[in-house]
Amino acid sequence: MTDVLEVVDLTPVQLRRVLALAASWKQPGAAVPRLLAGRSVALLFEKPSARTRVSTEHAVVTLGGHPVAIRDEEVGVDRRETAEDVARVLATYCAVLAARVRDHRVLERMAAAADVPVVNLLSDRAHPCQALADLLTLQEQLGGLEGRRLAYVGDGNNVAASLTYAAALSGMEIVLSSPPGYEVDDEVVEGARNLGGQVELVADPLEAVSGADAVYTDTWVSMGDEHEADARRAAFAPWQVDARLLDAAGPEAVFMHCLPAHRGQEVTAEVLDGPRSVVWRQVDNRMHAVRALIGVLVEER
Ligand code: CP
Ligand code: NVA
Repeated sequence: MTDVLEVVDLTPVQLRRVLALAASWKQPGAAVPRLLAGRSVALLFEKPSARTRVSTEHAVVTLGGHPVAIRDEEVGVDRRETAEDVARVLATYCAVLAARVRDHRVLERMAAAADVPVVNLLSDRAHPCQALADLLTLQEQLGGLEGRRLAYVGDGNNVAASLTYAAALSGMEIVLSSPPGYEVDDEVVEGARNLGGQVELVADPLEAVSGADAVYTDTWVSMGDEHEADARRAAFAPWQVDARLLDAAGPEAVFMHCLPAHRGQEVTAEVLDGPRSVVWRQVDNRMHAVRALIGVLVEER
């Protein structure tokens, strides 16, 4: 059984299968198999969500299953009962347990306790479902992933970590540029390099984007970082993705963002809403990617 708490929990073969199924089931008129007929998928949220919740619910429905979305206020993870007990209960009724948590260790405890696949819908450390959708988007946009170059500019957060692993597993080069103190964890960089990944750390964002096929950024203030908002906005200002930075990547480079976005902070409105932005394609691909991921996980059982 596979739990997907980070992109690297998938083997390269599974990753290729997820991307291939996502692309195939996305075709107009494709017959999506009813792999979840008569079964439910639990979607537990300790933090807000628009894309992840709705795309995953819709994915489950189109696989013939029933999504059960619950907020932590109802379940009370580690307050009403332990994370392990919550996981055992949900795994009794559901074919897959997917959760968005404040603390990644809660997901690890759930995965250890549940006898069904556990999927990370975002934690403080990782956002693998986003990275899978982003690989699908890049594959469509660039015609392939091997040898392509992705520049990530901004906070070395959960999204950056999952993209770093995703790039390594798919043969893409990744260049990360963050203000001092906000870099992606060394453990992630080493982990991706150990997988054969080409990971570069470049302090200057203008230099980092040079030659990139895509320039990616995310919010400067992730959920849980709100108490640091002012300091972060000051530190990150030189890492804003504006037209000058995107132009420095070259005329063909596309702009990516997992959303929600903050126009005038990590990205200008001109770039986010401009012709080189593929953010709405990323949004669409969230459903296709998570549907294929769930398909692969239940197919294997
Ligand atoms: N990109 C993303 O995960 O969006 P939500 O927080 O709205 O789910
Ligand atoms: N890094 C952001 C991503 C939101 C989808 C956060 O964790 O809030």
